[in-house]
Amino acid sequence: MLRALFISLSKAAWAQGWITRWGLAWRVASRFIAGDTIAQALAAVRQLNQQGLLATLDPLGENTQTREDAAQATLVILNLLDEIERQDLRANVSIKLSQLGGVIDPQLGYDNLCRVLQRAGERRNFICVDMEDSSLTEVTLDVVGRCRQQGMNNVGTVIQSYLYRSEDDTRRLIEQGVAVRLVKGAYQEPAHLAYPKKRDVDAAFDRLTDMLLRGAQAAADWQVSEDGRFPPLPAIATHDEQRILYALNQTRDLYLHAHQVEFQLLYGIRRDLQASLAKQGYPVRIYVPFGSHWYPYFMRRLAERPANAWFFIRYLLQR
Ligand code: FDA
Repeated sequence: MLRALFISLSKAAWAQGWITRWGLAWRVASRFIAGDTIAQALAAVRQLNQQGLLATLDPLGENTQTREDAAQATLVILNLLDEIERQDLRANVSIKLSQLGGVIDPQLGYDNLCRVLQRAGERRNFICVDMEDSSLTEVTLDVVGRCRQQGMNNVGTVIQSYLYRSEDDTRRLIEQGVAVRLVKGAYQEPAHLAYPKKRDVDAAFDRLTDMLLRGAQAAADWQVSEDGRFPPLPAIATHDEQRILYALNQTRDLYLHAHQVEFQLLYGIRRDLQASLAKQGYPVRIYVPFGSHWYPYFMRRLAERPANAWFFIRYLLQR
């Protein structure tokens, strides 16, 4: 209920205008967002690196409505890649196809993604294309697959365990040698497309973890030697300790090395877990969003956890 409400608010322009006007909204949001400038985000990444954590920077933005805005979003990402290299940070970049104009025209999204991947290649960096709602699943997989076929091996994408189609999609990405980040899924999807019950989403997450780790085991020999820096490392992205425990056990049972799987968590969430996984020797990458378009991201974080949502509502009502 609360989840559906916050996800629909994340798309409502009237609510965005209303909520972002309050300074207190930003105060709550800033727990999850590293700042509104590149400089603030890079400073946050430096701190994470000093703690032995990797980062993936998300220059916030989605659903770009004009070609000019898509070109501008692309420029921001190119600049970010330059800065990461200049400051010698251990970070890659996460973007959304709709940010690059993929909703206006999939070809535009593809062209802009190619520009980003080319610059990332020059900087020896990697781009993960986040997964958005189900209206964009096929086009995102398609565009990423085309890039991979064109020989761009520094691109990965995301699989959402709540979608029924995800086993087939995971198989397809493993075959293509595309790096996959596995998440549960952050959008509101109808029951004919996605498991409505959390326990089914969790069970699917474990099955997909298993597929990805077996894929990494099979790929490890040739991919590491052929590509050097970009083996299709599966990333298990969750704060759910049971899911992480399952992945850790499978990693050991399949005799994978700690560096053949990555754990990913969101900035500002479960810092204790981030530190503990890193201490066990696993690569841990923190998803670091930044920028002025923080509203939809923030609403999705509230939607994920009733405690966050109630905290925010209480705060608003007290004003
Ligand atoms: P679950 O929701 O079961 O939470 C497990 C525990 O984690 C909770 O009990 C709580 O302790 C903690 N927790 C979870 N969310 C919290 C929050 N907001 N605030 C405080 N505590 C919280 N989704 C998507 O659709 N497309 C994408 O591209 C991505 N990308 C992505 C990258 C990374 C690195 C992560 C970690 C997640 C994503 N997601 C995503 C979001 C993902 O789909 C999912 O919505 C969140 O990770 C929350 O689900 P959990 O797996 O943590 O499990």
